[in-house]
Amino acid sequence: MKALVYHGAGKRAWEEKPKPIIKAPTDAIIKISKTTICGTDLHIMKGDVATVTDGRILGHEGVGIVETIGEGVSSFHAGDKVLISCITACGKCDYCKKGMYSHCENGGWILGNMIDGTQAEYVRIPFADTSLYHISDAINDEAWVMLSDILPTGFECGVLNGQVKPGDTIAIVGAGPIGLAVLLTAQFYSPAEIIMIDVDDNRLEVAKKFGATKVLNSSDGKAVENVMKMTNKKGVDAAIEAVGIPATFDICQGIVGAGGHIANIGVHGKSVNLHLETLWSQNITLTTRLVDTVSTPMLLKVVQSGKLQPQQLVTHRFKLDQIMKAYDTFGNAAKERALKVVLTA
Ligand SMILES: NC(=O)c1ccc[n+]([C@@H]2O[C@H](COP(=O)([O-])OP(=O)(O)OC[C@H]3O[C@@H](n4cnc5c(N)ncnc54)[C@H](O)[C@@H]3O)[C@@H](O)[C@H]2O)c1
Ligand SMILES: [Zn+2]
Ligand SMILES: [Zn+2]
Repeated sequence: MKALVYHGAGKRAWEEKPKPIIKAPTDAIIKISKTTICGTDLHIMKGDVATVTDGRILGHEGVGIVETIGEGVSSFHAGDKVLISCITACGKCDYCKKGMYSHCENGGWILGNMIDGTQAEYVRIPFADTSLYHISDAINDEAWVMLSDILPTGFECGVLNGQVKPGDTIAIVGAGPIGLAVLLTAQFYSPAEIIMIDVDDNRLEVAKKFGATKVLNSSDGKAVENVMKMTNKKGVDAAIEAVGIPATFDICQGIVGAGGHIANIGVHGKSVNLHLETLWSQNITLTTRLVDTVSTPMLLKVVQSGKLQPQQLVTHRFKLDQIMKAYDTFGNAAKERALKVVLTA
């Protein structure tokens, strides 16, 4: 089969690899129908993720058809249409029993990281019963692909951890696919104000269309000042960090109001200064989280009902064998005005 293979920082190739086979009775082999590229894949391509080694097939998102199952798989059968979760869960370890699948002792984020991923014609999914979901044909497959990673990430790490409530004023720092997924799912709770902050005017325009009540370009370095003006100096109930750099974490610290929440989503490569000298008395909470995908069954129902249409995030479409070009486009997201790129086998 053909697959997108990582060969060290900056090096990738669309090349021939052996078709995966069942290794454990709990495995399933999936024929990929649609997959996508994540911001995290770009981090990997820069060599930022040490667990990804030369020869690894990338990708942790996708939908497909079950081709074969191991003898221990009971909930799925050949021919079933499935959503692949970016998080593999054994369902049996202490963490899985707490719903913290991201820290599963036998899985977690392994796809396209420690084991071969979904940017290929076929993929092996361990613990298939607890890592795959049945999906219907009634909904556009592009919508389902957004449920592998970005929707549960935005919702769990941003909206749930940020404790977004009706009437809240919230700010989302970063209007990439993850920030926009926060924007879409925050609206389940009817916050009064959603302030979207980014340095890319095109993405801020998209955010307006998706329900942001105010947008703010922070390239002038005055984001904190401007948000404090917008909120009568009160700050926000939830400041959601969806970039992953010290500058944007600082914005969150500067705009969180008394009793508010800083919900970090971004993957950080550098340490930040925590301003306890001002925050100690402000009754705030600070949360971090690797997406658990515990909300996936709920999100599936919302998408199935048509109330959430995450396919709006798809800006570019390619055939799977054009994935090298798709990486170039996604890697130049600002110039190409790209959000999510979908690859169809
Ligand atoms: N916690 C998790 O489980 C989890 C899961 C998936 C992704 N992530 C992380 O979430 C983050 C966002 O992902 P994404 O795919 O949307 O990334 P992205 O790179 O597409 O989007 C980031 C956005 O931040 C904006 N930005 C950059 N610098 C800025 C600044 N100084 N001020 C304001 N905005 C700025 C960019 O213009 C861009 O729109 C990444 O760090 C990603 O690795 C975390
Ligand atoms: Zn991802
Ligand atoms: Zn587990």
